[in-house]
Amino acid sequence: IGRAVYLYPEIDSTNSAAFHLGHSGAGEGTIVIADTQLKGRGRLHRPWQSPPGRNLYTSILLKPPIEPSVAPQLTLLAGVAVADLLSFYCPGSVRLKWPNDVQINGKKVCGILAEMKTSAHGIDYIAIGIGINVNIRNEEFDETFRNLATSLREETGQVLPRMDIAVSLYDHFEKCYTLYLAEGFQSLKERWLIYARILGEQLQVIFREEVQSGEVAGLDDSGALLLCDREGKITRVIAGDATIKKG
Ligand code: BTN
Repeated sequence: IGRAVYLYPEIDSTNSAAFHLGHSGAGEGTIVIADTQLKGRGRLHRPWQSPPGRNLYTSILLKPPIEPSVAPQLTLLAGVAVADLLSFYCPGSVRLKWPNDVQINGKKVCGILAEMKTSAHGIDYIAIGIGINVNIRNEEFDETFRNLATSLREETGQVLPRMDIAVSLYDHFEKCYTLYLAEGFQSLKERWLIYARILGEQLQVIFREEVQSGEVAGLDDSGALLLCDREGKITRVIAGDATIKKG
């Protein structure tokens, strides 16, 4: 990771840049990082607020030897890497929220967006986009997110150097990715479930107005969430917004 690094003061989206680089043959582990994004993308076509001088916006280009159907594993892998990183600053209060949010004390501090290019040969490349709220203050968030989002600065009371955080992120990511290539998804899946503290919880997932709910039984090997209904029937959920139902 990081043998080639592209650093931009301003860009439309680091994921788009990583895609262009992938298209022109850039190698696995190429990194794109920007101070600000003009068209930062979130999941489900939402925009990602990307003010300059504050946060981390980065994408890592990967060319994993896996089938497209198991690519969601890489989103979960990135979640574990970010959770390892953030746990150094906020030990014990980092949590993963399926499919790809990282929270501190119940508020979103990081979003992950994996986008892939496939062809008849399988996966050509994947851009793993990671946005971490580092030094943004609560009042700078759009009003709609103010109660739902946080930053490392809000949680630690310290202004942190973004580059240190970026370097440490790539380090954690590389450790997780090396383990994944050597041993597969199993150990990362277990670590993901520990950070998510979600097994046995009642969960509701909404995707395109369809609601699925049930008790969380685990993740399957493709990274899909498994929900168990009252009759014991298991449903695989691959996308959506999840909320834990307090009962
Ligand atoms: C989400 O939670 O909806 C995912 C947000 C992903 C944001 C990051 S910032 C770096 C990369 N470039 C983008 O345009 N999006 C991702």
